Amino acid sequence: MTDTMSDTTPVPLRERPAYRELAAHYEAIKATHLRELFAAEPDRGPRLALQFEDIYFDYSKHRITDETLQLLIALAEQSGLPERIAAMFSGEHINLTEDRAVLHVALRAAADEHITFDGHDVVPDVQAVLAKMSDFADRVRSGEWTGHTGQRIRNVVNIGIGGSDLGPVMAYEALKHYSQRSLTFRFVSNIDGTDFVEKTLDLDPAETLFIVASKTFTTLETMTNARTARDWLLAGLGADESAVAKHFVALSTNAEKVSEFGIDTANMFGFWDWVGGRYSMDSAIGLSTMIAIGPDGFSRMLAGFHSVDLHFRTAPLPENIPALMGLLTVWYTDFFGAQTQAVLPYDQYLNRFPAYLQQLTMESNGKSVSLDGSPVDYNTGPVYWGEPGTNGQHSFYQLIHQGTLTIPADFIGFLHTLNPIGEHHDLLTANVFAQTEALAFGKTEEQVREEGTAEPLVPFKVFEGNHPTTTLLVDTLTPYTLGQLVALYEHSVFTQGTIWSVDSFDQWGVELGKVLAQRVIPELQSSEPPQLHHDSSTNTLIAKYRRAQGRPV
Ligand code: F6P
Repeated sequence: MTDTMSDTTPVPLRERPAYRELAAHYEAIKATHLRELFAAEPDRGPRLALQFEDIYFDYSKHRITDETLQLLIALAEQSGLPERIAAMFSGEHINLTEDRAVLHVALRAAADEHITFDGHDVVPDVQAVLAKMSDFADRVRSGEWTGHTGQRIRNVVNIGIGGSDLGPVMAYEALKHYSQRSLTFRFVSNIDGTDFVEKTLDLDPAETLFIVASKTFTTLETMTNARTARDWLLAGLGADESAVAKHFVALSTNAEKVSEFGIDTANMFGFWDWVGGRYSMDSAIGLSTMIAIGPDGFSRMLAGFHSVDLHFRTAPLPENIPALMGLLTVWYTDFFGAQTQAVLPYDQYLNRFPAYLQQLTMESNGKSVSLDGSPVDYNTGPVYWGEPGTNGQHSFYQLIHQGTLTIPADFIGFLHTLNPIGEHHDLLTANVFAQTEALAFGKTEEQVREEGTAEPLVPFKVFEGNHPTTTLLVDTLTPYTLGQLVALYEHSVFTQGTIWSVDSFDQWGVELGKVLAQRVIPELQSSEPPQLHHDSSTNTLIAKYRRAQGRPV
């Protein structure tokens, strides 16, 4: 905690004038149907949309009027959004509870930019790590970097969890089209030994490179998997510890721990504590991505991130896409009581995008204490979830269409597919447009009757509609547009956190479980019956497990 914490806290959310006006405005428009809004304004679709480079952002199918937008923008201003954006980009310690700067934007800054943090320009540091990563990635891709026995590397296994896994695996899946297909990529994250066993079952240790990705290099899951990987490698090669140097590299901020583990720090790619784990896929944590798509592809991805950073920093709020995305989430979360936000990418390559967003959004804004330490009296971060279309349509869309919850949904579609076979892409895209239309406009009782539906079935076939959606229509999925999409959500999260006055960059909520697990581990493993001082449920579960392992209780 910093001394300045209370100075930087704006007036409580409910006391901001725009929030009060929004509360009254919500009462006035909550019953207005999207059918009425579209009927009243024939060009609402193109008017409430923005084109930013190759991304078309259509927010017309939201339950908003011009007044709603004005009030949301006033709320952003009264919450200090412009000042906070400036503070982030200038390296201020906006992660108050950890007293850290938040500078993931420096990871993708242009090489000739200057971003200073505590008086130090971090851009040259970033460029130096990128150069080292590029050199290494090229050597692995070309076969110049060989394993201990001289065989070329054919398998790259990233071992990490949370931000040290979700970004890399999402980006690998998303950009597989651009990847070097002669290399196999695997991602081991879970401490469940099954993850390691299944991911390495068909791999030859002589051809396998492990990337141990951990900001802290202390995370239980990652260190356990990394030790297992080292044993697997040495057993498979019948080699001594010296083999580790050719088969293990580390991505971390903690050189001491990397060295303790036995990885030469010459094979370590560093980053800094001003990069949050969930904001790190474009740091050294992205080494697997770079090996997959090459240094040029990685640069294009960074350029995509950077383009949205510039947009977020400079576009006026009414034309600022991530700010609008964040404000719309606040609108539904705090006024409509929406508790979830669906993200529905209509591209199979984005199959891990919702999982990636879960950490980004929920670890960031799953907070119930505002910056001054007082409990919030409003809802904060919603649950983000989703699946690629059209699979979701045959699963959970029923609830979005006809359930009782309000579930704002982001539809992400592409004008061009990377796999143009037959009519697949037309059919896929037709579904994007049809779903948002159906969700917005539904089907009235009259329409159902006109179709000749038997009277008893009429209520079941009515679609209320009025379900809000955003459509992000992107030209093509490329490294550049992937970087743009991720940055849009990063800055949407930032906007939300600013309105809610929470620290979007700490994650104290994951600590308790970690600490308790450390207490339980010896109680499961001890050879003598442990003295258990938990609640009666936990004590019984521990005893049951010990019996199953043949350990005395
Ligand atoms: O437990 C949560 C967390 O700290 C995340 O924020 C982070 O991305 C993940 O663990 C992994 O941490 P590390 O990269 O230090 O292993």
